[in-house]
Amino acid sequence: MQIVKTVDAIRAHSRHRRCAGKRVALVPTMGALHDGHMALVDRALELADDVIVSIFVNPTQFGPGEDFDRYPRPTDGDLELLGARNVAAVFMPTSDEMYPFGTAAEIALSVGSLADHLCGKHRPGHFEGVVQIVSKLFIATEPDVAVFGLKDAQQFVIIKTLVNALGFGIEVVGMETVRNEDGLAMSSRNRYLHEGHRRQAVVLSRALQAASRLITEREQARDALVTAMRHELALAPDFEHQYAEVVDGRSLQPIDHIAPGQDLLLAVAGYFDRTRLIDSAFVTAPGSSR
Ligand code: PAF
Repeated sequence: MQIVKTVDAIRAHSRHRRCAGKRVALVPTMGALHDGHMALVDRALELADDVIVSIFVNPTQFGPGEDFDRYPRPTDGDLELLGARNVAAVFMPTSDEMYPFGTAAEIALSVGSLADHLCGKHRPGHFEGVVQIVSKLFIATEPDVAVFGLKDAQQFVIIKTLVNALGFGIEVVGMETVRNEDGLAMSSRNRYLHEGHRRQAVVLSRALQAASRLITEREQARDALVTAMRHELALAPDFEHQYAEVVDGRSLQPIDHIAPGQDLLLAVAGYFDRTRLIDSAFVTAPGSSR
């Protein structure tokens, strides 16, 4: 497994492999790898001959007061996990390598209405930072396919749109969220939780399950779904919920009334002390869309 630090070197690696007729996959991460990331890597290994994993804690997607400085960076452990898989290269650039003109002088892309709600509403500039770094990673690694987790569902929809809008010509694959036994979605931020909060954190997935159940039972009112999600979240006394929402699964715009066959995204977010957790689920309403 090669450890590659520069854009020129990772591009040369990818071009060399693609010229040899090999299919290259990219798994972008911020490190602090867990089983959810490893599921992305395993999927990438099925989809391509050569898998590149990037590890870069991207400063431009963190807002003021967020956890950029304390974001976990267990590099040795991450490399050990990846070394046990058949990963061809780990791309670990420095901030200067990715932002040679400094982050303030960078060129940014605007995301538009897909970022108006859910995390985009509560983390202004976050998705602009995500599309900026993902574009740079795509340009540096020139993959055929890139694999992302669906826990960050809004990010996934935005990246798919980015790829289509800018014509990157990269297949974007989403992987189901990997969960702990009690349902808590795997997340690098779970390691911030102390035992009590870790136990309470099960409410996020339970909130999604409660709303999904109602949708299956043909509940069509958004308010009923939101009330059910908030009810579950309130069962964790230390959880400060930020949002519990149901939006259209494609436009990511809020809806009042669910249409038969409509693709939906259920999403929740909030805090245990300073630790922000999110969870989400794509669901299709029963019935025919015609
Ligand atoms: O999902 C993440 O870990 C990050 O947002 C990503 C896609 C690696 C960009 O920094």
